[in-house]
Amino acid sequence: MNFTLEKIVTSRFEDPACQKIDAYEKTSGYQAIRSILDKNISSEDVIEIVKTSGLRGRGGAGFPCGLKWSFVPKVDGPKYLAVNADEGEPGTFKDRELMLRDPHQLIEGILITCYAVGIEKAYIYIRGEYSAPMLVVEKALREAYERDYVGKNVFGSNFDCDIYVHSGAGAYICGEETGLLESLEGKRGHPRLKPPFPAVEGLYGRPTVINNVETLSNLPHIINKGADWFSQIGINEKNSGTRMYCVSGHVKKPGLYELPLGLTCEEIIEEHCGGIIDGKKLKAVIPGGASAPVLTSKEVYEDKIKMDFDSLAAAGSMGGSGGVVVMDESTCMVEVAARLSRFFEHESCGQCSVCREGTGWVSEIISRIESGKGVKEDISTLKSIDPNMRGNTICVLSDACAMMFGAILNKFQNEFEEHISKKCCPLNSPYSV
Ligand SMILES: Cc1cc2nc3c(=O)[nH]c(=O)nc-3n(C[C@H](O)[C@H](O)[C@H](O)COP(=O)(O)O)c2cc1C
Ligand code: SF4
Repeated sequence: MNFTLEKIVTSRFEDPACQKIDAYEKTSGYQAIRSILDKNISSEDVIEIVKTSGLRGRGGAGFPCGLKWSFVPKVDGPKYLAVNADEGEPGTFKDRELMLRDPHQLIEGILITCYAVGIEKAYIYIRGEYSAPMLVVEKALREAYERDYVGKNVFGSNFDCDIYVHSGAGAYICGEETGLLESLEGKRGHPRLKPPFPAVEGLYGRPTVINNVETLSNLPHIINKGADWFSQIGINEKNSGTRMYCVSGHVKKPGLYELPLGLTCEEIIEEHCGGIIDGKKLKAVIPGGASAPVLTSKEVYEDKIKMDFDSLAAAGSMGGSGGVVVMDESTCMVEVAARLSRFFEHESCGQCSVCREGTGWVSEIISRIESGKGVKEDISTLKSIDPNMRGNTICVLSDACAMMFGAILNKFQNEFEEHISKKCCPLNSPYSV
């Protein structure tokens, strides 16, 4: 396998002109969709190429992309693509940059997907706060429409594909795929019970593919360079390609890093992000957005956990959205749990009592402990709430909250106990919630 630092989706990031269609085309832009149409490559073959590449979803769950497409039934009538550009996961800022710096790469990825699945209408659902990326994507779409790369008879072929931009309104739950579909239909973003899965019954009750911006941005490169090229990058064929790690927190060089899948968390922190600031020690890392259970310093430096999908899952966490939050020894982990549980409480859509009540109780109890007013029984109460919040709800927001506080409580129970016995934050955290 190949761990060279080859840029894929960020390969045009250094050149601001690449927002525009001319610069995009000069750097092999729109070559992939052109070659599919010119060579009359069948939709089945495109799906097969994507399957062989091993590309997995970069939005959260890491589901194999080509396999997801193959679930869409070959029926007459409309089918849709919903592009997930909601990017609400705390600590995640990659889709924003992909849309700002290389919008045509996304548009080409959308065209490839629509061709492969037999879709004629795609919606890009963009996080409401992302007004600048939205303008850039809209401008790029106008350019592509003007050249007949999008719309009727794409590149003079008999393939039609319209792409629309839709703005979200600031709800995290609208990033959950079925919440997103409800929102697109003009309703409240309430996730739907599955099955039926969106591939069979999605937008307006029709078969729908939902993919993340980063997932789709990989497609032109896979078509141009081949499935084998892509599958050789990274740690193994099931964890192939690169990931955009959004690194924030106590590192010397926070930022966006496109790196091959399977580097260790230690390599990302020490070699790419310059190590921990002010000579302090690492305490914990959130490896994939707020929903991904924290890793301890021991897991990072001694167990040398790798940052690909399967290694993180085997370690009881997940790759999630690629949001990597690094916390040094001065961080109060009770405060982290309090802050994140408030987030989940605020963002719960309220349909399921387990989630609506559970996130509220957890937030209240942890905030109480954090403010020095906790009692001993609070720890056992939290431990009893945790399993009840898993696997019992319409979507996995409830599970995400339980995984988050369950891991912090298990790995840093001593900090909860100290807050209770000392009746204050022993670290005297200045960021108290
Ligand atoms: C509460 C919640 C929020 C989510 N938010 C996002 C998001 O902002 N962006 C995203 O791409 N996926 C998000 N997801 C994952 C999507 O449901 C879905 O798995 C993803 O868009 C599929 O695309 P992919 O296969 O290309 O990763 C979220 C999931 C949950 C449960
Ligand atoms: S788990 Fe929470 S966010 Fe998901 S549908 Fe139920 S109440 Fe809404």
